[in-house]
Amino acid sequence: MRMALNMAAIGLLTGVLFAGQALADRTPEEIVRDRCQDCHGMTGQSSDPEYPKLAGQNADYMTRQLANFKTGVRVSRKMQRKVEDLTGHEMRALAEYYAAQRLVPDIAFDPALAQVGREFYFSGNADTGVSACVTCHGPEGRGAMYLPRLAGQHRKYIIAQLHAFREHSRSSSEMVMHSVVENISEDEIVAVAHFLSGLE
Ligand code: HEC
Ligand code: HEC
Repeated sequence: MRMALNMAAIGLLTGVLFAGQALADRTPEEIVRDRCQDCHGMTGQSSDPEYPKLAGQNADYMTRQLANFKTGVRVSRKMQRKVEDLTGHEMRALAEYYAAQRLVPDIAFDPALAQVGREFYFSGNADTGVSACVTCHGPEGRGAMYLPRLAGQHRKYIIAQLHAFREHSRSSSEMVMHSVVENISEDEIVAVAHFLSGLE
């Protein structure tokens, strides 16, 4: 009887241990399937343009953004709920998982508009003091480390983020975008987003 009880106790204990271990050992694939794919897809190619594509995005940048969502530095009700219990290690693994996926760019339907956006991307606007985007986001729009890739991103998302920077409703430890877009015009926003979304 006593023996049976002990066995039951051990069974219970190991059951708890295994459950705990399973939780600690979640792979990024499992987390993505459980709580990211509804919005960002298994391959980071979000089909709804409100949700950013994550495929091919820089891992350092994404790791920092996930931490920013968690601490509330970058405000998003949708994202905060998804990351609040993730460990630093899990956020890094998720960022690396999505960074390794291949991004498929949108189709730039209006080549003339894309060309206007291209010129603005490479030169900025000297009259209004808007810096050239290429300086930081690179000639191919791929960024590096903490500078996000913009090439192939949904234009609707790019437009929304430029508005958020201009209104200061998006913040981070990197406030540089606030001053970059201070004098950007609505036409410039639409043109540059059109150009970038079609970029390979
Ligand atoms: C309910 C939909 C939804 C789910 C589920 C979701 N996200 Fe998001 N995600 C968003 C939205 C919306 C944004 C843009 C927030 C904003 O406007 O600033 C975003 C932004 C991001 C960004 C920043 C991208 C960038 O270019 O700055 C990363 C990284 C990210 N999500 C990763 C994840 C991961 C990893 C998961 C799963 C743990 C996840 N998301 C689950 C909706 C979602
Ligand atoms: C001085 C460097 C610099 C310049 C110039 C610059 N950016 Fe940025 N940009 C950044 C940094 C840094 C971030 C990431 C901010 C953060 O960590 O939240 C960023 C973020 C962005 C994002 C958000 C991307 C995402 O995935 O959420 C967009 C869109 C963007 N920049 C567009 C532009 C455009 C368009 C221009 C040209 C008008 C431009 N940037 C010029 C440094 C720069």
